[in-house]
Amino acid sequence: MRRAIELAAKAYQQTDPNPMVGAVLVKADGRILSEGYHQAAGLPHAEVIALQPFSEVPADAVLVVTLEPCAHHGRTPPCTDLIIRKKVRQLVIGCVDPNPRVAGAGIRRLRAHGVQVQVGVCEEACRNLNRVFNKHIVSHLPYVTLKAAVSLDGKIAMPGGESRWITGELARQRGHQLRSQHQAIAVGSGTLNSDNPRLNDRVSPQPRQPVRVVFAGSSALDLQSWFVRENTGRRILLAGQETPPEVLARIKTAGVEVWVDEAPKPRIGWGLARLYQEGLCSLLLEGGATLTAAFLKEKMVDRICLFVSGKIIGRREAPTWSGELGHKVLADVSAVRFGEVESLGDDLLIHGYFQHSLIDRI
Ligand SMILES: NC(=O)c1ccc[n+]([C@@H]2O[C@H](COP(=O)([O-])OP(=O)(O)OC[C@H]3O[C@@H](n4cnc5c(N)ncnc54)[C@H](OP(=O)(O)O)[C@@H]3O)[C@@H](O)[C@H]2O)c1
Repeated sequence: MRRAIELAAKAYQQTDPNPMVGAVLVKADGRILSEGYHQAAGLPHAEVIALQPFSEVPADAVLVVTLEPCAHHGRTPPCTDLIIRKKVRQLVIGCVDPNPRVAGAGIRRLRAHGVQVQVGVCEEACRNLNRVFNKHIVSHLPYVTLKAAVSLDGKIAMPGGESRWITGELARQRGHQLRSQHQAIAVGSGTLNSDNPRLNDRVSPQPRQPVRVVFAGSSALDLQSWFVRENTGRRILLAGQETPPEVLARIKTAGVEVWVDEAPKPRIGWGLARLYQEGLCSLLLEGGATLTAAFLKEKMVDRICLFVSGKIIGRREAPTWSGELGHKVLADVSAVRFGEVESLGDDLLIHGYFQHSLIDRI
């Protein structure tokens, strides 16, 4: 199973909207006969590649797959039928597929055809491979990662707005990689106007540039910003009834798609649902604090990636990355479960996962 996970991870962030899946066919003595992984949506599933060299597998062969095989017709035929046809007698599965079209149906079908199925080997690792998929396939919303560069006391800028740079070069490069690993990237109009971020990956050798998204409120937007002027790739402005019509007109003229909510400001849930309808399964939220607070209040953040520097800003008026959440008692406070910690020069990158995120409930 560890080998199958390794194989699945080779297609990291390349299989959207599909999950990453690895498969290994082993003999009873542990010898690997064949293996495969799913490389991209529309291409063969991992099981198909692993079973491809055989018309029928040897009697003592065990097929090991990170995710439950599909039992429905998608872009490719069901893998369960292939497994039955190739006479696999033993199957080991990492985790159940949360996709409501599968969700145990693959396992039931295989057992009904006499395949011995064991489920839950390295389950957590297999489930964690597909955090993005697990969230979007159930909720029909993109998986949201919040990224912020913070001082040791959790501040994202000086009281006057200066924020370049809180963290060092290595942390910033890693931040660029995160951009390529998401299908869309979003900021609030405050950040657009004060920082003029380019919202692209300028370090990866072959970056997959995210769709750029801005949440606009009642204020004007900087028409000289990269977002407005750099007419490459898809750009989307999410606006509300408060957004001045002349702002919308100017932005449209610049070639940006403009979506207007019926609420005064674009609601977070509305914006995310629309982005998902456009096939965007993952979103990197890059602040600032006001927009972040709106996401956090609606429990729309799944993961945080906090770049933490050793600098101590020490000013009460300086904004904190989470914004103002208004909790009065500790019982109301939400928490992340800490994941990996990366050391990047003088800075740390701390990964945290919200318990409310659907992936933790599957
Ligand atoms: N260190 C870091 O990692 C980092 C990252 C990003 C930003 N920053 C810093 O953060 C500061 C900017 O943050 P900010 O809080 O002023 O701005 P922001 O969070 O980027 O944008 C907030 C604005 O977005 C608009 N908006 C649209 N939809 C909204 C919704 N549903 N809920 C709430 N607001 C919505 C509102 O505009 P209206 O008020 O016009 O209605 C709101 O004021 C800058 O100083 C920047 O340097 C730091």
